[in-house]
Amino acid sequence: MPTRRALLLQAAMFSALSARGFAQTRGNHRLPLEPTPACGADPAAATPASAEGPYYARRSPRRTDLREAGIAGPVLRIGGLVLTRSCRPVAGALVDLWQADAAGQYDTAGFRLRGHTFSDPDGRWQFETVRPGLYPGRTRHLHLKVQMPHQAVLTTQLYFPGEPRNGSDRIFDRRLLMAVGGDEETMIARYDVVLDVS
Ligand SMILES: [Fe+2]
Repeated sequence: MPTRRALLLQAAMFSALSARGFAQTRGNHRLPLEPTPACGADPAAATPASAEGPYYARRSPRRTDLREAGIAGPVLRIGGLVLTRSCRPVAGALVDLWQADAAGQYDTAGFRLRGHTFSDPDGRWQFETVRPGLYPGRTRHLHLKVQMPHQAVLTTQLYFPGEPRNGSDRIFDRRLLMAVGGDEETMIARYDVVLDVS
C-alpha cells in the first residue's frame, strides 16, 4: 500500500499547477503539465533510449521520495505516465530513477538519490527529489529505466529545457526534454514515457 506521504505527494504532484492554468486533461488523466511528447499521433513515437552511463546500481530502494537528511538543492517533483505507442496507460511498470546530487556527485557506495516505483493503474508515476547538479562534460539530466511487465527495459535520460549545456552535450536528445514548471524552490517536471509496445 502507498504510504500516506506518498499519496499526499501524488495529490500535490498532479494538482500543483492546475490553479495556474497548466492543467491538462486527457481521458481520465489529470496532470499538471503538457504531455511530453505529445500523444496525438497514431501510433506515438516511442521514447528513445539513451546511454546508461557508469553509475547505475541494481536493487535501488522502492520509494518515491528520494530526499533525505543532508540532501540539498531545490525540490524537484517529477512524474508522468507510462504509455504504449497506442497511448494506453501501462499499469505496474517499473520506473527506476538515479541521478547526481546538487553538487554533481553520484552516490556510488549506497542509494542516495536512487529509487524505484511502479506506475499506478492509470499509468502514473512520480518522484520527489532534488534538481540534479552539473558535472563535467554533461548537461543537467536524470537517468531512468522503465520496464513494462514481461517486456524489455528502456534505459534513457531526461533533460531540462533551457539549460546552457544542452547544445554542447553529445548525448543530449531534445526528444527527452521534460515539461517543467513551478518556481525556484519547487520545480515540477513531467515526462510521459512511451514504450515501444503497440
Ligand atoms: Fe549521469
